Amino acid sequence: MDLRAQIDPNKIPKHVAVIMDGNGRWAKQRGKPRVFGHKNGVKAVREIIDAAGNTGVKALTLYAFSTENWNRPKAEVKTLMALLLTSLKNEAKELVKNNIKLQIIGNQESLPKSVLKGLNKVIEQTKNNNALTLTIALSYGSREEIVNAFKNISKKIVNNELLTEEIDENIINNHLYTFTLPDVDLMIRTSGEKRISNFLLWQIAYAEFYFTDILWPDFTKNDFYNAILEYQNRERRFGKTSEQIETRNEI
Ligand code: IPE
Ligand code: IPE
Ligand code: MG
Repeated sequence: MDLRAQIDPNKIPKHVAVIMDGNGRWAKQRGKPRVFGHKNGVKAVREIIDAAGNTGVKALTLYAFSTENWNRPKAEVKTLMALLLTSLKNEAKELVKNNIKLQIIGNQESLPKSVLKGLNKVIEQTKNNNALTLTIALSYGSREEIVNAFKNISKKIVNNELLTEEIDENIINNHLYTFTLPDVDLMIRTSGEKRISNFLLWQIAYAEFYFTDILWPDFTKNDFYNAILEYQNRERRFGKTSEQIETRNEI
């Protein structure tokens, strides 16, 4: 059954973040090497970009490679980087056609130059698009992002561009890689793991979490719609009481 029709268009999460996990296990179940799982994960990425666009989500952030993932076997890292580059290049036309803006977040200095160059080309091609912002977290670690923000804020203080007293949540937010994005409303993790793995720690302060046992290569549009439906059934109270929320809804 296509779940899309059940989605309330007035309660769409603005920003959905996804921890795409389980490629290795998916391959293992089939007696194949881990990279086979990564290759099959690309299809699911395409599906989810489509599904996000269909439902009117404005920002989709996908965790593709963490700072910790550099510690994986060299051959796997190399294949992952190559796969990322080729699939994003292949997707460029679709992104342009669907008015999707691509951006990347993470520690760009550690990325191979060829990958960065290829990605920057697609970023440039799609920079004026505005239906959906697709953010790929690549060589991304939330703690690294926060350290980077501290450094940049400190520099401004030393240069007298900012006073310590002026530091507030907005200032911190504006120094994160995600400064153009709203807070995460919905965080999805596949593969049955129930942890954050250093992803968007600041940005998920009030996110709703959706965990599913489905392994990433098997994740479909309908699974994404299902996550949105569950999100729509949650009551987001932001510290208030249920009664306060109901009153507001009645107005
Ligand atoms: C997610 O799948 C992809 C990346 C982290 C790059 P995994 O490779 O982590 O798959 P599992 O968790 O080993 O099954
Ligand atoms: C998190 O997955 C990173 C990505 C999905 C890119 P991992 O598979 O690397 O996370 P851990 O190691 O199980 O926490
Ligand atoms: Mg994993």
